Amino acid sequence: TEACLHEIESRVRAIADYPRPGVVFRDLSPLLADPQGLALCIDALAEPWRHARLDAVCGIESRGFIFGAAIAHELGCGFVPLRKAGKLPPPTYGVDYELEYGIARLEIAKQALPVGARVLVVDDVLATGGTLEAARSLLEQVQADVVGGAVVVEIEPLAGRARWQGTSPLRALVRY
Ligand code: PRP
Ligand code: HPA
Repeated sequence: TEACLHEIESRVRAIADYPRPGVVFRDLSPLLADPQGLALCIDALAEPWRHARLDAVCGIESRGFIFGAAIAHELGCGFVPLRKAGKLPPPTYGVDYELEYGIARLEIAKQALPVGARVLVVDDVLATGGTLEAARSLLEQVQADVVGGAVVVEIEPLAGRARWQGTSPLRALVRY
């Protein structure tokens, strides 16, 4: 409901000029630290997927793990981590993607998901969309069925949503 979303939004802190001048950083720590805020947030993220017959929630390292594992528990499905380079033992699949400065790499364990697995991709924040785009492309590489994406916060002026290809819904609880 609107009231729940307001409870969530009121627990996101805005920090001006972090990590660089001109950037407004959205800090979800107060939301996580608050029992009611955390519960509302996990419930709202999980709600649209209760009857989606998901096989797994895929959370993106590192803050996507926090929300992703809680949602997986809530939905009664498994959790599969999409990790930064060099964190998973072989064999893995990987995808390189561009950050504002330099490149990064996301990896998944080769045996983590069966072909056709129905998965929801979860992260804390959608900014430029590069991270979620990389997650999608990695999951396509392993022939998973990405049925949707879920984030707590979307930073609309960065237009990351435009990079979410395909027809599955990408849902954000709060937009700035
Ligand atoms: C942040 C955030 C998202 C991503 C969003 O993660 O948690 O994953 O950036 O940005 P984008 O939409 O422009 O790709 P970061 O890479 O800072 O890693 P962290 O979660 O380990 O802090
Ligand atoms: N907050 C948290 N994580 C982020 C942000 C932000 O504003 N931008 C990119 N990742």
